[in-house]
Amino acid sequence: MAPSPREASPKLQQAMEDCREQVNRTITNLLPSSELAEAPLFDGMRYAVLNGGKRLRPFMVMEGARIFGVDAGRARRVAAAAEFIHSYALVHDDLPSMDNSDMRRGKPALHKAYDEVTAILAGDALQTLAFEVLADPETHEDPRVRVELVANLASAAGMHGMVGGQMLDMIGEKQEFDVGTISRLQRLKTGKLIAFCCEAGAILGKANPAHRQALRNYAHDLGLAFQVTDDLLDAEGNPAVMGKPANQDGKKATFVTAMGREQARQRAEMLVEQAISHLRLFDESRVGLLKDLARYVLQRRL
Ligand code: IPE
Ligand code: IPE
Ligand code: MG
Ligand code: MG
Ligand code: MG
Repeated sequence: MAPSPREASPKLQQAMEDCREQVNRTITNLLPSSELAEAPLFDGMRYAVLNGGKRLRPFMVMEGARIFGVDAGRARRVAAAAEFIHSYALVHDDLPSMDNSDMRRGKPALHKAYDEVTAILAGDALQTLAFEVLADPETHEDPRVRVELVANLASAAGMHGMVGGQMLDMIGEKQEFDVGTISRLQRLKTGKLIAFCCEAGAILGKANPAHRQALRNYAHDLGLAFQVTDDLLDAEGNPAVMGKPANQDGKKATFVTAMGREQARQRAEMLVEQAISHLRLFDESRVGLLKDLARYVLQRRL
């Protein structure tokens, strides 16, 4: 049973649940299942992705795509690709050599449920599957759009994006960072993938540069607010609700460890207001849920 976004407004909650259901169907169809000798790898991949999760990134892709009237089937493939990258990152993040977390999404982490080899390889395979999905003509008939999606996701997930951020996160356990570096760390490890998700609909819909920039700006502030809230939840959240351990970040460089909870919370609030303000370019009927999502990011308990 996937967790319910309890602090979301009823409208947002329903929209997120519908999105989760639809994207989960696409994800299930894209994941392998076979009798081959290497099938434990496929089992691990399914365990990593189909084990709950709020599906916030798919929701961003779907809502972004809706602004530009993009076909939902295409958008769902991009949403699935983003969730494959995110899930692979969580699997590797939980490994003993990284955060050494035993629980994820309310269940034993993949390396606990299976073993480290399966966790490493399932993560690797999810990553490459994401790009395979984007490169497929079913995602968009225009090869330029497909290449743009592939290039943007690669840069969001790679050395100057999520992986670079994860490296900074690990270095930050042993070295003190100033607030500017922490902010960069968070933008890379979490913000870049969120930015891809918010912009993907604009890429699929061949939106004009001003609209794309507005979504990028929204994502920039929202991504940072999202990670600050994650860090606050680590300090004060309930592990049973979150489905993952709390108090893991004591020695990490986060806004909470650097400036304390109150200042971190104020910063997140300010960022969410700023994120919402970037959407004023669009008709309210098209971005109402993205505004609600930004507010939910602040109030979430999981
Ligand atoms: C957790 O992300 C990891 C971070 C980037 C902070 P989510 O809070 O979106 O995790 P799931 O997908 O709902 O499990
Ligand atoms: C994980 O950040 C970010 C990525 C996997 C890219 P965290 O380490 O803070 O995420 P949680 O708290 O384990 O979900
Ligand atoms: Mg981590
Ligand atoms: Mg972690
Ligand atoms: Mg965390």
